[in-house]
Amino acid sequence: MKTYEIIHREQIAERVKVFIVYAPLITKHCRPGQFLIVMVHENGERIPLTIADFDQERGVVEIVFQEVGKSTVQLGAMEAGECLHAMVGPLGHASEITGWKGVVAVGGGIGVAPVFPIARGCKQNGARVTSIIGARTSELLIYEKKMRAISDELIVCTDDGSYGRQAMVTEPLRELLETEEEIDLCVAIGPAIMMKSVAETTRPFGVKTVVSLNSIMIDGTGMCGGCRVSVGGETYFACVDGPEFDGHEVDFELLMARQGMYRDQEKDAADEPSHPCRIGLHPRKPA
Ligand code: FES
Repeated sequence: MKTYEIIHREQIAERVKVFIVYAPLITKHCRPGQFLIVMVHENGERIPLTIADFDQERGVVEIVFQEVGKSTVQLGAMEAGECLHAMVGPLGHASEITGWKGVVAVGGGIGVAPVFPIARGCKQNGARVTSIIGARTSELLIYEKKMRAISDELIVCTDDGSYGRQAMVTEPLRELLETEEEIDLCVAIGPAIMMKSVAETTRPFGVKTVVSLNSIMIDGTGMCGGCRVSVGGETYFACVDGPEFDGHEVDFELLMARQGMYRDQEKDAADEPSHPCRIGLHPRKPA
């Protein structure tokens, strides 16, 4: 096997793919909550992706991504047997997975994948883990089997009721908080609006709530400043200070405004095959 070879490729939901990549040096140091930077080709964009799973014995790491822009579409077009141009990591601070009694792991959409190793780590360290996973519809639900295998209890929600309970993830979360006494941590990963709602649900109960903000990163190394977040009134970089932060302290309004910031440039990049820039600025026109 070659380093960064894609040894397994699978479509697990609409526009969502999972790659298992041979990367023994990276895998050796992986811990739950960390992320990787992936490049498809030499001039490609750096794509930050949270680690969805890893197997240190086999030297493989699992990444899950949604084809939402030019670079992730290029990534999704790669086949098993091909090699990624580069993979850097593990980056970011690892999750705190020891010392908890009761953990609720909440994953929304593609966020279920990065929540998985954190929930598993908490379980392996003695916590009772209740997982709540949600998606808009049953076809978009991922990692159900994996989450069920490592959870004491799994609650599945869909917005349209096509599978599991028709509810937002915050509904069963509130019920758990009202009835279970031993919950001391909630980990939530998913769309910003979901993480915000989860944080608002846990706030009155005083349960520590951790959210992961990898989705706003660009270069992932602390150099571009694109991942600035306001947490407790202070500015942090999600890539070097996170990706996890206290959900009760994150300024989600600012986060959501910043997430939409490069939408036009992303569209330009998708429409313009010769776009020379990697951070979303307009291409330079020849003089
Ligand atoms: S992603 Fe560029 S500074 Fe964090």
